[in-house]
Amino acid sequence: DVQTDTVTVHADQPGPTYNKRLFGQFAEHLGHGIYGGLWVGEDSKIPNIHGYRTDVVNALKAINVPEIRWPGGCFADEYHWREGVGPRSKRPVKVNTMWGGVTEDNSFGTNEFMNFSELVGAEAYVSGNVGSAPPEDLQQWVEYMTSPTNSTIAQERRANGRDKPWKLAMFGIGNELWGCGGNMLPDYAADVTRRYSTFIRVPHGQHVMKVASGANGDDYHWTDVMMKKAASTFDAIGVHYYTVPNTWEHKGSATGFDEDQWARTLVKTEKMDELLTKHSAIMDKYDPDKRVALLVDEWGTWYDVEPGTNPGFLYQQNTLRDAVVASLNFDIFAKHADRVRGANIAQMVNVLQAMLLVKGDKMVKTPTYWVFDMYKQYQDGTVLPVDVQANTYKKNEWELKSVSSSAVRGKDGVIHMGLTNVDPHHPQRVTVKLDGVKENSVTGRILTADKMDAHNTFANPDLVKPAAFNGARMSNGTLTVTLPAKSVVMLDIK
Ligand code: AHR
Repeated sequence: DVQTDTVTVHADQPGPTYNKRLFGQFAEHLGHGIYGGLWVGEDSKIPNIHGYRTDVVNALKAINVPEIRWPGGCFADEYHWREGVGPRSKRPVKVNTMWGGVTEDNSFGTNEFMNFSELVGAEAYVSGNVGSAPPEDLQQWVEYMTSPTNSTIAQERRANGRDKPWKLAMFGIGNELWGCGGNMLPDYAADVTRRYSTFIRVPHGQHVMKVASGANGDDYHWTDVMMKKAASTFDAIGVHYYTVPNTWEHKGSATGFDEDQWARTLVKTEKMDELLTKHSAIMDKYDPDKRVALLVDEWGTWYDVEPGTNPGFLYQQNTLRDAVVASLNFDIFAKHADRVRGANIAQMVNVLQAMLLVKGDKMVKTPTYWVFDMYKQYQDGTVLPVDVQANTYKKNEWELKSVSSSAVRGKDGVIHMGLTNVDPHHPQRVTVKLDGVKENSVTGRILTADKMDAHNTFANPDLVKPAAFNGARMSNGTLTVTLPAKSVVMLDIK
């Protein structure tokens, strides 16, 4: 039995820009996120471009990855950049004490990351070590990356094979300073942020966005203190929120879950809306002009690791449920796009809610990857507000609107409209009212599958992938869309 809903698109009230950085990625020295995941080295039998996996580079280019955060995460506040430059054979071999206790040979360092970002066409967001390094280290690292002069450090970069400075778009003043970044209390973290920020200096004429370490989920006090005491020293502040279905101790399985797990995961994802509303309201008190951006610089699903894998590697499968988590978040970001101007899904390859899973020379694109592909025309488009009147989907105590939506007029002039039906049983017939829209043709793509936990494997890599959508009809300025159960649809209206 089909349910009926209404969505109104207010193209006559264009909103803020949907910043392309909302599609940012995150690559930490964690498990096989970097080693084996994107970096195999020039001598590998796996096809590579200067050491970077060719399959991964091509897949990332295809979704227009706008920005990548590196080297952590928690790893950032234990990372000493000097250990990752110069001849690889001379770099110190360390233990990654944060993640899995495995060997870190530093073969992927600053040159490797900055060149990788350039190769995929993404901006670099480098997170500095505030927890265990002096400010001087950060100052010299920034100089190494950005200086066009003949200073000794700039010459060192040249000796390491890179003549011109790279473009450093964003620099993080530590990560999770309330936790792995140094267990600081907010007042102290605000002071430390002020101090370290002072020494992050780029050459005259360049600009780097300085990003303060943000709150853990709903820790509004953190945002309040940081904004009150230190906002003048940064351009953005983060917030981290993970969708964890159950508890931190027993998070829940990535596959083989029941409908209760499906529903609670999506309800917990919707919490992002409340978090962004409340953090933004605090920022408005101190920064009514919205100079300081709020960046969701870690988000995504976090489940129990795949059975038999290293618990410190955070390796998990990725199903249709993750695709829906991604589309719900993209819709939420649209509502807050005036303040929320960047986000980094955790993480890009092989870690948590990954775009890509790789093993040996094989790679699969996850359902989440396909949502990033379907929504990519949102990048730097103009948000068109939507009003959603939808049935309630309910399972046990978990309930949310059955339909989620957002719309953006892309830089290509086309209206791109995302619609998600979270109900795993009932199709939804959505009447879309298009206020201020002259365009009258519609095409689309759909991502769906038979099972809630449908996923792609190395043996069957194309089980979940977008198909042409023919459930939308335009007649006399009204659009009628039939969304199959548990589906993500992207419409192009032109
Ligand atoms: O993404 C995994 C970890 O989650 C990051 O290293 C840390 O910042 C967060 O707690």
